Amino acid sequence: MMSMNADRAKKSWIEEKAYAELARIRKAKEKQVYPLFREFEKGGLHTQIDGKPIVNFSSNDYLGLTNHPRLKEAAKKAVDKYACGLSSSRVQATTTEHVELERRLAKFFGYESCLVTTTGYQAMVSLIVSSSDKDTTLVLDSYSHACILDGSFMACGVPGRQPEMRFFNHNSPKSLERILKTRERKNALVLVEGVYSLDGDIAPLPEFVEICERYDAVLVVDDAHGSGTLGKHGRGLAEEQGVEDRIPILMTAFSKSFGGIGGALLGQADVIEMIKNSARSFLFSASSPIPVIAAVTTALDIIEDEGPALVQELHQKRDYFRGKLLEAGFDLGKSTTHIMPVYTRDERKALFMHIAMLECGVLMVPIIYPGAKHGEERLRVNITRGHTQEDMDTALELLKSYGEAFFVLSGEDLGPMDDDAF
Ligand SMILES: Cc1ncc(COP(=O)(O)O)c(C=O)c1O
Repeated sequence: MMSMNADRAKKSWIEEKAYAELARIRKAKEKQVYPLFREFEKGGLHTQIDGKPIVNFSSNDYLGLTNHPRLKEAAKKAVDKYACGLSSSRVQATTTEHVELERRLAKFFGYESCLVTTTGYQAMVSLIVSSSDKDTTLVLDSYSHACILDGSFMACGVPGRQPEMRFFNHNSPKSLERILKTRERKNALVLVEGVYSLDGDIAPLPEFVEICERYDAVLVVDDAHGSGTLGKHGRGLAEEQGVEDRIPILMTAFSKSFGGIGGALLGQADVIEMIKNSARSFLFSASSPIPVIAAVTTALDIIEDEGPALVQELHQKRDYFRGKLLEAGFDLGKSTTHIMPVYTRDERKALFMHIAMLECGVLMVPIIYPGAKHGEERLRVNITRGHTQEDMDTALELLKSYGEAFFVLSGEDLGPMDDDAF
């Protein structure tokens, strides 16, 4: 039987638009270099693609807890109690498990209150849209994650509330100060990330805190990639930089160190209560499933009990891998963390490296335009606590071989080709 769309002779505008917009992707697929949406056949860092064992180096499972037997066991028990869905939003589908996790997270991160959301993206959008109006200037780092950008765009589109939206130069206290000084609205909400997810560099929080306090601005830190990976106890960049009690609002995500999915907003009780009662993206979207909440709560148990040892092990692996990459001559940009982009600064080099490495059982996803600017193409390389010494050494050998073969290490041109690979 033919599909409904194929039956029609004339294409609708949306079909024509999609066909036109997919030109680049069609070409990449024809050339068999399309690198995205690869299908895992197994969970965890040691996975399988097309029947072949693969070690994933683009995962955010930083503490290697996703596949931990205790998390799986907790999730299985929760399935028996609550199944996989709650059939509604938190307004009418909150459980004691959600509230307990909120209480525990507030205590762990040292805040009065916490709101757990179904994704990290939702947490950020909820915060921005519900807290900003025509008296607000949203002040964004120019490298902001999509959830910060989209939350701000959404806020700017709410009739009658439209905040002002301004950008400052990435990680620049001077530029932040200039924007705060010249803002048009009285209330400023400054939005930064702790660890930048594609670049692996960190925000200078002590300077940002000082400037925000001086200009009466509220600082929000999205520490999705710092929670569990930085600070002695894994409480994130603010712990590492000694400013934990001076970050008014912290946001984190469970899809990295906490082995699940979800988001959390932490702050003063009334602020969290306001978001909980007014954020449309929270109020009108379904509640987080309890098997996930149970797994995340168990990850928190483990981090509370063993945090310093887990963080230390991650840092040892990070330092080993970084040292070897630099020794080999790779360009890691401004990264100082476990997120170590290996720059190829060329689209074809990134794609060819990716495919060659994957053939040998190592996944490093290429980040190319529009995910990265032209000239900033790279392989996404994250070191996690779950990688073994053998995983790291194999990946290093392959990176060195193919880095030479594809002129990533020498920086030479790949030479002319018929056209762009992708
Ligand atoms: C910095 C940052 N913030 C927020 C998010 C969103 O989290 P989630 O994937 O849970 O929606 C991500 C995830 O990609 C992220 O990297």
